[in-house]
Amino acid sequence: MSLITATFMALALCFAPAPAVGAAATVSARRPLRGNDTLVSAQGKFELGLFSPAGSSGDRFYLGIWYMNIPVQTVAWVGNRVTPLSSVATAELRVSADDGNLELVGLTAASSSPVVVWSSNLSSSSLSSSPGSNTAEIRDDGNLVLVDGGNSSNVLWQSFDHPTDTHMSGAWLGENKLTGEYQALTSWRNAQDPAPGMFTDTVNSNGTSEFVFMWNRSSTYYRTGVWTGSFFKNIPETARGNVLFNQTYIETPAYRRLTNILYNNETITRLVLDLTGQARQYVWVESWQLFWTAPIVQCDVYALCGAFGVCDQRSELPCRCPPGFAPASEADWKLSDWSDGCRRSSPLTCSRNGSTTDGFLELPDVKLPDDSLAVGAAQSKAECESACQKSCSCQAYAFSNGGCAVWHGDLRNVQQLYADSGVSGSDLYLRLSATGLRDLHSVDRKKGENHWLVLGMTMVGVLALGASLILAWRILGARRRRLASMANENSLTVYSYGDLRAATKNFSERLGGGGFGSVYRGVLKQQVQVAVKKLETLGRQGDKQFRTEVSTLGLIQHVNLVRLLGFCSLGDEKMLVYEYMPRGSLDRYLFGGGASLSWRERYSIMIGVARGLAYLHHGCRECIVHCDIKPENILLDEDMSPRIADFGMAKLVGRDFSRALTTMRGTIGYLAPEWISGQPISAMVDVYSFGMVLFELISGRRNSEEYSEVEATGTMERGSSTFFPVWAAGKVVEGEVSVVADRRLYGDVRLEELERACRVACWCIQGEEVQRPTMAQVVQVLEGAVQVHASPVPRALQHLVTLT
Ligand SMILES: *[C@@H]1O[C@H](CO)[C@@H](O)[C@H](O)[C@H]1NC(C)=O
Ligand SMILES: *[C@@H]1O[C@H](CO)[C@@H](O)[C@H](O)[C@H]1NC(C)=O
Ligand SMILES: *[C@@H]1O[C@H](CO)[C@@H](O)[C@H](O)[C@H]1NC(C)=O
Ligand SMILES: *[C@@H]1O[C@H](CO)[C@@H](O)[C@H](O)[C@H]1NC(C)=O
Ligand SMILES: *[C@@H]1O[C@H](CO)[C@@H](O)[C@H](O)[C@H]1NC(C)=O
Ligand SMILES: *[C@@H]1O[C@H](CO)[C@@H](O)[C@H](O)[C@H]1NC(C)=O
Ligand SMILES: *[C@@H]1O[C@H](CO)[C@@H](O)[C@H](O)[C@H]1NC(C)=O
Ligand SMILES: *[C@@H]1O[C@H](CO)[C@@H](O)[C@H](O)[C@H]1NC(C)=O
Repeated sequence: MSLITATFMALALCFAPAPAVGAAATVSARRPLRGNDTLVSAQGKFELGLFSPAGSSGDRFYLGIWYMNIPVQTVAWVGNRVTPLSSVATAELRVSADDGNLELVGLTAASSSPVVVWSSNLSSSSLSSSPGSNTAEIRDDGNLVLVDGGNSSNVLWQSFDHPTDTHMSGAWLGENKLTGEYQALTSWRNAQDPAPGMFTDTVNSNGTSEFVFMWNRSSTYYRTGVWTGSFFKNIPETARGNVLFNQTYIETPAYRRLTNILYNNETITRLVLDLTGQARQYVWVESWQLFWTAPIVQCDVYALCGAFGVCDQRSELPCRCPPGFAPASEADWKLSDWSDGCRRSSPLTCSRNGSTTDGFLELPDVKLPDDSLAVGAAQSKAECESACQKSCSCQAYAFSNGGCAVWHGDLRNVQQLYADSGVSGSDLYLRLSATGLRDLHSVDRKKGENHWLVLGMTMVGVLALGASLILAWRILGARRRRLASMANENSLTVYSYGDLRAATKNFSERLGGGGFGSVYRGVLKQQVQVAVKKLETLGRQGDKQFRTEVSTLGLIQHVNLVRLLGFCSLGDEKMLVYEYMPRGSLDRYLFGGGASLSWRERYSIMIGVARGLAYLHHGCRECIVHCDIKPENILLDEDMSPRIADFGMAKLVGRDFSRALTTMRGTIGYLAPEWISGQPISAMVDVYSFGMVLFELISGRRNSEEYSEVEATGTMERGSSTFFPVWAAGKVVEGEVSVVADRRLYGDVRLEELERACRVACWCIQGEEVQRPTMAQVVQVLEGAVQVHASPVPRALQHLVTLT
């Protein structure tokens, strides 16, 4: 622990506070803060002053608190969110001589003489008897406080009671039950405007302990679930497994509030309600590193893309406008503020008597927007369309499974889905004016594609037009989908059975096998070596389903994952072709009796596997649980860099997976207790198995072997019945980490890394899922970016072991 803390200290020292020019200690009636002057906290962590948002034209100034020791402007609190000052020179932050309030005075765009743009705004009854002597200071936790001049322990006002978009360590979110005031986070309006945006994170107003994220203070799009005593129900990962904060929710007659307190106040971190409507936690390690986010899927944020915007999880920027639409405010979109949404490029032409030249555009494969109206009378797609067309306010319709739905007013929450990810959506027919449709087609024609669309161009009877357009768009949609699925498969090669039989010399060189089938070495035409896996437990899975699943797997690429090159599907014969790893699997090196791995190699394998798993869990569109992490499934490439094999099998094999798994030898020792007890499985089972693998990398032997402690030497001997991880966890708690390392290393280990590895391994194998860290956190710990405390000895495990 001391070593790890030392790293942080060193980090902090690099950023030793430069004496700020014009920095004052406090603000008082006699000593206001003027112009460029700033107030710096005692240890130089936070700075208070006027700032102009990075990237803005520099003509708007706000009172803010920012992190002092990092080179990127990161504002944690803003005073005058709505009313910026137009100049710094005349600005003054002062304690009012009249009533003792803290106030910001200066020129604004609307006034030529100084005005009060922000004030602590306390009523005279809550101010002290000698208001003129009040002082304000910025504390090291980033809290701006106004202190009673007559009694320095009486805090009259503090910024922690009025958070903006950042939840700071030591501050609170919740409700003051006496005043009815809420402490909530509200996102900025855009990257350059701290005015309150669309998203808020606040405690549920109905009195429960749950926090809710809302759009426009009305539509809830995310719930944390209620406080269970150590975490919020829906975010167990922030429980004790959270290596950064001690999170507590407390309710008293006066308040109910959530606080996050950093275990180590040297950690530089921020938890912010972002422009994207997500809560995001970052840790500063040379730059802000994303550590945790909720909701995880950006498109789950309500109305993120505004009216008529389409949210696309796969594109770099989440929002785009559908064809025939353009951003309502191009400038705001550039600043990551999509809330204004999209506008029609040409207006609908609709007259009350129901005659219109408007047509419809198919948006294939989308998640339909909210607030639809069902039209029971419409029994066919054509009737549904005409129902929409007859109403001037109808903007779109969808027809599926015999049901007709129409939308009036703005469409919100349209989301692009992808069939290859297993979630297929519906087709939405969006109403466009005839001009709008014509413009679209001429654009298409210019591109030299989709020429058959011209079909629908002559403006004739409305229904005829609509129908032909729909037909055209259907063909187009189908073609586009076909192209998309081909492109997906194209990244994977489709092999014939004969190819692979020849490549593997009739499956003669078996490399290994598991519950899903055997793996054979093969050599393809260009002398490329491959590993061919013949799947055995698939049963009679449909060819189409198999191709879909496999093409999804083909999209998953990471330096620490074995790459899928192609596949073969011929009736019941299903094979997967992977790149070949000449060094084979980790178990050979750890338990094979040959040359053992050095500590440096072991540690880089730990980090590599953790990164690969973190990618599977957090980096892909859908979380992929590996379910079978063990040394046999960790292959090594030429550089001894680890590659995880066999991921995605749970999805491919489906129902038969657990049966296949439990019949496998050598796997049991890596299975988390919830597997064995038949509870639902989450990514936390991988964390558990990873912890077990960490112990094996540390000790160089199977956890499942039996050992006994020889008291005299404090090391372990083969023979009796203590389970190594339990013994090692005990040693870690006692602070004797050096004895747990593989004796073949002869003490040639980096103690700091060994300690980190042991601690994180102990956390990973906690019996309670909620106590285990996420893989993203594991990576951070192994990389030394965050500190981890010693865990309790996993009692449940010890119990389990003594029973068997
Ligand atoms: C504020 O600081 C900038 C750069 O340090 C300087 O150019 C400017 O004159 C200062 N303004 C005032 C009012 O002190
Ligand atoms: C101060 O509080 C009063 C009511 O308590 C409110 O009407 C007013 O807008 C507030 N002023 C500022 C600057 O916050
Ligand atoms: C950090 O914690 C140490 C020990 O608890 C304390 O002495 C120090 O004042 C704290 N620093 C801040 C900025 O809170
Ligand atoms: C000073 O303020 C504190 C906190 O409000 C209060 O508990 C204390 O009684 C006050 N002391 C005096 C002398 O008024
Ligand atoms: C509070 O609101 C939540 C969700 O809206 C609901 O499930 C819960 O029953 C409500 N609790 C009370 C006490 O009203
Ligand atoms: C947000 O809510 C307010 C009323 O609470 C309403 O007037 C406004 O139109 C809403 N904004 C949007 C974009 O719907
Ligand atoms: C977390 O904070 C609570 C309340 O402040 C305290 O009782 C508890 O001991 C703390 N837990 C840890 C692990 O520091
Ligand atoms: C509907 O109104 C338009 C003008 O607004 C007119 O040209 C058209 O003839 C009308 N159609 C019917 C069926 O009344």
